[in-house]
Amino acid sequence: MLLHIPQVLTEEQTAECRLVLEAAEWVDGRVTAGYQSARAKNNSQLPEGHPAAQKVGETILRALEQNALFLSAALPLRVFPPLFNRYAGGQSFGTHVDNAIRQSRETGMKIRTDLSATLFFTGPEEYEGGELVVEDTYGVQQVKLPAGHMVLYPSTSLHHVRPVTSGARLCSFFWLQSMVRDDAERTLLFDLDVAIQQITAERADHPASVPLTGVYHNLLRRWAEI
Ligand code: NI
Repeated sequence: MLLHIPQVLTEEQTAECRLVLEAAEWVDGRVTAGYQSARAKNNSQLPEGHPAAQKVGETILRALEQNALFLSAALPLRVFPPLFNRYAGGQSFGTHVDNAIRQSRETGMKIRTDLSATLFFTGPEEYEGGELVVEDTYGVQQVKLPAGHMVLYPSTSLHHVRPVTSGARLCSFFWLQSMVRDDAERTLLFDLDVAIQQITAERADHPASVPLTGVYHNLLRRWAEI
């Protein structure tokens, strides 16, 4: 499932983070690419562990801990410290699949990448091109979101970033290991959770809400690995 999560950061948070990021020194993005993706990748990146990356990364992780839509869709077990990239002057990232296992150079934490996330710091009106193109199970989807918004998609997807032909595209990207490894199972849990929330919002004491919540937790108990 590919999911758009709106307003992960407020306008103020986005603007503050952007100032921090724009003042930092950027390096060639191939430093974090695997052997195969290094040939497709052409962008700038903040070095892992750079103070600006840590500062903005903490803001993002704190915001996600409070984001009900993210928590319900991702069921996160471990989140990789956010990384940052910048595309300008025709830069792009050709079709690739993300590495299955990632280890943080800073913390040593190893994760299995179940979900990939891209959080936008520049709005779509600020640059031409730069769409994230994801080959999802339902076909090809093009993503270019407002600043502060995020897209979440299965790390198993082939994806690329189209050339940025004018302006600059500034984003955070990271991966997470979910408590539920399988995308189809995770999607069923998310759909069930959304339906339960709808029933409960319409009628708090609906007689079906307790047994349905039971089904949700019993499926989660069956499928979760922690
Ligand atoms: Ni990727």
